[in-house]
Amino acid sequence: MRIDIITVLPELLASPLNHSIVQRAKNKNLVEIFVHDLRLLGKGNYKQVDDYGFGGDAGMILMVEPLYRLITSLTSERLYDKVIYLTPDGTLFDQPAANHLSCLQNIILLCGHYKGIDHRVREHLVTHEISIGNYVLSGGELAASVVVDAIVRLIPGVLSDETSALSDSFQDGLLAPPIYSRPAEFNGWKVPEVLLSGNPKLIKEWQEEQSMERTKRLRPELLKG
Ligand code: ADE
Repeated sequence: MRIDIITVLPELLASPLNHSIVQRAKNKNLVEIFVHDLRLLGKGNYKQVDDYGFGGDAGMILMVEPLYRLITSLTSERLYDKVIYLTPDGTLFDQPAANHLSCLQNIILLCGHYKGIDHRVREHLVTHEISIGNYVLSGGELAASVVVDAIVRLIPGVLSDETSALSDSFQDGLLAPPIYSRPAEFNGWKVPEVLLSGNPKLIKEWQEEQSMERTKRLRPELLKG
C-alpha cells in the first residue's frame, strides 16, 4: 500500500509515522508513506500557500493553486483509489472504514490547516472526506496519523500474530474482553480463574460473555442494528 500525505506541518507527522507498528510496516515494505510539504510549492520568496478568505471571515485558507499542482502531479503518476480530506465535517471514521481503507493500493490524505482549504479543492479534487470525531483539531495532521495507524496495523503481515488485529475491540462489532498478564495474583488482585484453567473452550466462552457484557454496559449503541 502507498499513502501520500499532504501537509503544511510535516513535523507534526514525524513521530507517529516513524515509530512502533507503522515503522515496522515500512521496514517490512508493506506500506510506503510519503509526506509532501505543501510549502515547497508555495509562491514567491515566502513560499505562500495560504491567504485570506473572500467574504470577510477571519482566518487563513490553504490556497487552491499549490494544492492543485501537488495533487495533480501525484494523480498523473499513478491511479489513486481515494483522495481523502481530513475535516470535522467528513464521514465519521470507524473500524469498518479502517478495514476498507487497508485493502486499497494508493491513497492521498490531505491535511487542512488554519481555517481549512479552498472549497474548490473539495469540489474538484477530493473524492472522500473523513472526520475522526465530533471535535475540531487545529489541523488534519493528528487525524491523518490516527487514520494511518488504524489502517496500517490491518495490512496482512504487519502484526506478527495476525489474529491479534482480529480480536481488537470493534473488529466484530463488540468491545474486546479484559486481558491480563503475569503474575496471576498481585496485591491480592486475582486474574479470573477461568483464564488459568488451560481449557480453550471455557476461555473462549468467558471472553465472549465478557465482550457482550462490556459492550451492553459501556457502549450499548454498538449493539443496535
Ligand atoms: N481536522 C480538524 N478537526 C478534524 C477532525 N475532527 N477530524 C478530521 N480532521 C480534522
